[in-house]
Amino acid sequence: MAFPKLSHLLLSAALLLWPSASASSADEPPQEPLPLVIWHGMGDSCCNPLSMGAIKKMVEKKIPGIYVLSLKIGKTLIEDVENSFFLNVNHQVALVCEMLAKDPKLQQGYNAMGFSQGGQFLRAVAQRCPSPPMINLISVGGQQQGVYGLPRCPGVSSHICDWIRKTLNMGAYAKGIQERLVQAEYWHDPIKEDLYRNHSIFLADINQERGINETYRKSLMALKKFVMVKFLNDSVVDPVDSEWFGFYRSGQAKETIPLQDTDLYTQDRLGLKEMDKGGKLVFLATEGDHLQFSEQWFYTNLLPFLTAVQ
Ligand SMILES: *[C@@H]1O[C@H](CO)[C@@H](O)[C@H](O)[C@H]1NC(C)=O
Ligand SMILES: *[C@@H]1O[C@H](CO)[C@@H](O)[C@H](O)[C@H]1NC(C)=O
Ligand SMILES: *[C@@H]1O[C@H](CO)[C@@H](O)[C@H](O)[C@H]1NC(C)=O
Repeated sequence: MAFPKLSHLLLSAALLLWPSASASSADEPPQEPLPLVIWHGMGDSCCNPLSMGAIKKMVEKKIPGIYVLSLKIGKTLIEDVENSFFLNVNHQVALVCEMLAKDPKLQQGYNAMGFSQGGQFLRAVAQRCPSPPMINLISVGGQQQGVYGLPRCPGVSSHICDWIRKTLNMGAYAKGIQERLVQAEYWHDPIKEDLYRNHSIFLADINQERGINETYRKSLMALKKFVMVKFLNDSVVDPVDSEWFGFYRSGQAKETIPLQDTDLYTQDRLGLKEMDKGGKLVFLATEGDHLQFSEQWFYTNLLPFLTAVQ
């Protein structure tokens, strides 16, 4: 019979202790939120108020004081958009690595969030440039196994898109095209997989198709979480499975297989299997077309990866 009273007492004691407990931790320096680096998608720019600008605002609203760097590739917004089509991705990744290494606010580490092709580009940053350290990587509709088709281009650049589609179909793996067309650099032809393996200057390299670079493996595995968001009704990415690191089964372009059935995983060339077993891979799905999500969905599903304490 004394129990209810006792538990009452304990509860009040806990409540009384709470303020003093938090007061003592106030002596420690306040913990700065981890910065966030964003990389936009094809045909977009760092600062479009309807896309990356809005994301930056949303994050700043929910995490006061956070430093958000939305990457601009080039001197102007127009250059930034053009470079998303025409500047060699290997060069872009090197530029970004240099920017991050020079930014004093990022030296303790940062989270990264890539939209569409920005998702695979930031993975290349994680693999090639382990310092400063990337903590969580969030790929929002990124094509981690590339694309074999551009059924529809997002945004207003449909004439550029038609031209790109024609060029890719003509010869995505020709040297001149590889070096000049971003989308060719993550073009993945499952029927001529050999050609892709030998001649893709970007994706085949970061996916360890020509050999294993231990730095890539070690650096990717150093991530705390690698989050991949797939859009269930995506009409831009072919195949949509690429957003979860799956792809067409080699030799044909109808049947797709999940990451767990690919050689990349079973041979664990990139450490993905080990990461998966360790609970580091997070697969999220949402209804909607490419990059279509609500503010609420973003807060509920992605924000926790930006606020988590080390
Ligand atoms: C492996 O990747 C690192 C980081 O990009 C690079 O410095 C190194 O040259 C690569 N090694 C090989 C053998 O390609
Ligand atoms: C790809 O490279 C391998 C090894 O160098 C070679 O045997 C093969 O013929 C090449 N295939 C194509 C289609 O380039
Ligand atoms: C989106 O795709 C999912 C899974 O394929 C399907 O169940 C759903 O009906 C689709 N929604 C719309 C609006 O097309």
